[in-house]
Amino acid sequence: MSQFHKSTVAITGASTGIGATYADRFAKRGHDLLIIARNEQRLNALAARLRAETGVKVDILVADLTDAADLAKVEDQLASLPNLGILVNNAGMAAHGGFRDATSAEIRNLITLNVTALSQLSAAVIPRFVENKAGAIINIGSVVGLAPELPLGYYGATKSFVIALSQAMNIELAATGVHVQAVLPAATRTEIWERSGRNVNDLDGVMDVDDLVDAALAGFDKGETITIPPLHDENLWQTLEDARKAMLPHLINGQAAPRYQA
Ligand SMILES: NC(=O)c1ccc[n+]([C@@H]2O[C@H](COP(=O)([O-])OP(=O)(O)OC[C@H]3O[C@@H](n4cnc5c(N)ncnc54)[C@H](OP(=O)(O)O)[C@@H]3O)[C@@H](O)[C@H]2O)c1
Repeated sequence: MSQFHKSTVAITGASTGIGATYADRFAKRGHDLLIIARNEQRLNALAARLRAETGVKVDILVADLTDAADLAKVEDQLASLPNLGILVNNAGMAAHGGFRDATSAEIRNLITLNVTALSQLSAAVIPRFVENKAGAIINIGSVVGLAPELPLGYYGATKSFVIALSQAMNIELAATGVHVQAVLPAATRTEIWERSGRNVNDLDGVMDVDDLVDAALAGFDKGETITIPPLHDENLWQTLEDARKAMLPHLINGQAAPRYQA
């Protein structure tokens, strides 16, 4: 992805965890940054460190992406930011419980952050990326988007949305020079577990956040649409894709299948 050399990278949820690690890696690659989250103190501390260590320009934008006015502010900024080349839609939250426990407010917040904000921020940059014939969007999904068996309530479905959206965007935009990548981490050692009332130490097979982001960027550099850092046998993903595509020609039919006919 050498065409993005030196373009500015905007990263949501960059105050800690996966987003802060992306900020570190892109700064070390020489990109100026716009880092976005709610915690101003953490954003300022990260920005100061990255400016000192790498010499790149780092701007911060304090915003709660579940707040409509803040989200509109970020959309405006992204639509006009000079030299923007990459948007990392990383900010996300997990659900506290399963379907029996979720409250309306929790569902609304979850979907607003994981689905609505990600979609609106993508929409804010796509027209300018298409006009420039260059640009990339990195959407942070999750393996739970492929695995309803994992008991994470509404969260899993928001991540299925991220996968479906990224694939569809990539198909529509590929010819325009705009690339979309969905990254599907599995359990990664960050604060998201504590924030959603879980203990990461209760889990097996947890990936270090540095390893996760380095693998995700290796997938980005290869031009992947879907990057699944913990999946060692990539043929398994290809098999799933091939099965889905084999069904495609059979999905549109004016007549109901015989099994549904009286
Ligand atoms: N860690 C995992 O095991 C794992 C696995 C699969 C997928 N993911 C996905 O990876 C992404 C990053 O997660 P993480 O593990 O790095 O989580 P994290 O450590 O909890 O960090 C989440 C980031 O998002 C920001 N954020 C949260 N709510 C926000 C809001 N309303 N408005 C703006 N920013 C907000 C947080 O900053 P402030 O609090 O400062 O706003 C923080 O910078 C998420 O999309 C998550 O679903 C994580």
